[in-house]
Amino acid sequence: MDETLLLPEVKQHYEALPYPPRNPNDEKNRLVKTTGDNLDKLNHYCFNGKRDFSSGFRCLVAGGGTGDAVIYLAEQLRYCNGEVVYLDMSEASRAVAEKRAAIRGLTNITWVTASLLELPSLGLGKFDYINCSGVLHHLESTEQGLQALVDVLQDDGAIFLMLYGRYGRTTVYEMQALLREYLPASADIPEKIEMARKLLDHLPKFNNFKRDLDAGLWGHEMSDDGYGDEGLYDLLLHSRDRCFDVQELYQLIEPTGMFLADFVGRDRRFYDPCNLVSDVQVQRRFKQMKKRQQQSVAEKLCGQFKKHEFYLTRKKNSRSTLNDMDNVMLLVDEMEGQHKILSESMMPPKPITVTYKVKRYEEKINIKGTAITKQLFFYMDGKTPLNRIFKRIKKLIPGTKTSEIKQELSDVFEVFSSRGWLYLRHSGVKKRE
Ligand SMILES: C[S@@+](CC[C@H](N)C(=O)[O-])C[C@H]1O[C@@H](n2cnc3c(N)ncnc32)[C@H](O)[C@@H]1O
Repeated sequence: MDETLLLPEVKQHYEALPYPPRNPNDEKNRLVKTTGDNLDKLNHYCFNGKRDFSSGFRCLVAGGGTGDAVIYLAEQLRYCNGEVVYLDMSEASRAVAEKRAAIRGLTNITWVTASLLELPSLGLGKFDYINCSGVLHHLESTEQGLQALVDVLQDDGAIFLMLYGRYGRTTVYEMQALLREYLPASADIPEKIEMARKLLDHLPKFNNFKRDLDAGLWGHEMSDDGYGDEGLYDLLLHSRDRCFDVQELYQLIEPTGMFLADFVGRDRRFYDPCNLVSDVQVQRRFKQMKKRQQQSVAEKLCGQFKKHEFYLTRKKNSRSTLNDMDNVMLLVDEMEGQHKILSESMMPPKPITVTYKVKRYEEKINIKGTAITKQLFFYMDGKTPLNRIFKRIKKLIPGTKTSEIKQELSDVFEVFSSRGWLYLRHSGVKKRE
């Protein structure tokens, strides 16, 4: 490993406190599903739903940490002749990730210990997909790190990035500044943690970070039943931590020639300011803005984005759309496999209510009960193409016009896809095992 291509304090940090803390034995009971790495989502956003993962799909997880993304990708590619390359500069983190993979019996992972800045010279070849989550903001130069990733990306490849958000972390940066002044420079990692915990236990109740803690924010990151000392150090004592607002993200990406395909985290619908303010006049003003400005305004309106999670692609318009009638619809995450239940529970004209829950945020969504939507739900089965769905609906409900089905499809698609539940895949692509 070329030690000149990494920050020594950051390496020392992750050797002492691999992040996130994981117990390899937990692999026997659960699979951690990371935000950007569901292959159906990736296909939908970055490959027009047309990518076949069954023949030699190559992924890189740059800054793989204790292995969440590498394990999830390797599991999905287990029977697909694909390869996942794990790269991290921390040997302690790699050891945890390797144990997790061994428990699962995964044999499709290549393990590399290096700085990601070495990537262009490591001879690892080109990658179809690169995950780099929570890493580039810890480098001396995020710009240089991103360029190193782009240099090893295939011409039609895609990247998932997670970078810290500026506004959702305001109080974290106040607390970091306080701790930098409070802690003696000579303190080692355990001493810093102990002194920081003592201070955190005695914050005045009007302290901004304390107000966040009392409101239920950041607690999991630092508590014993959450990420503990590893989380506390990562959040409040990191030696290199840079955040981005939306405009800064675009400025970071522009020189690489890549496009921001879409935001994909649980907050993605709030990057549209019209989902945050219902007044029609205000919305009219938002609609006059370019997408980038809308997103920039939205993040300030929302104020909650702790992180930005998004895909980058080399070409524009890499997303699947409803215009391609050969696409099939598939439900993922908590809606996975729910298409028949959704359809059966709809008794037109009664609406049905679905609940969208992200941590402390809960929303009840009413969906109009119609015979068409009932059928649309039924066919969110991951195998029936839109053209066949349209034909069947017309046969089942005589007199139905194409335009009516299109309108209802577009409405229900907006509700489900903006919440990360519904995706499209081209019917020509084989379903994976
Ligand atoms: C906050 S952790 C994130 C781990 C993982 N990506 C995840 O989301 O679970 C950051 C990781 O980036 C690694 N890292 C930081 N700088 C790096 C560099 N220059 N090259 C390779 N890995 C690096 C650290 O060792 C650490 O494991």
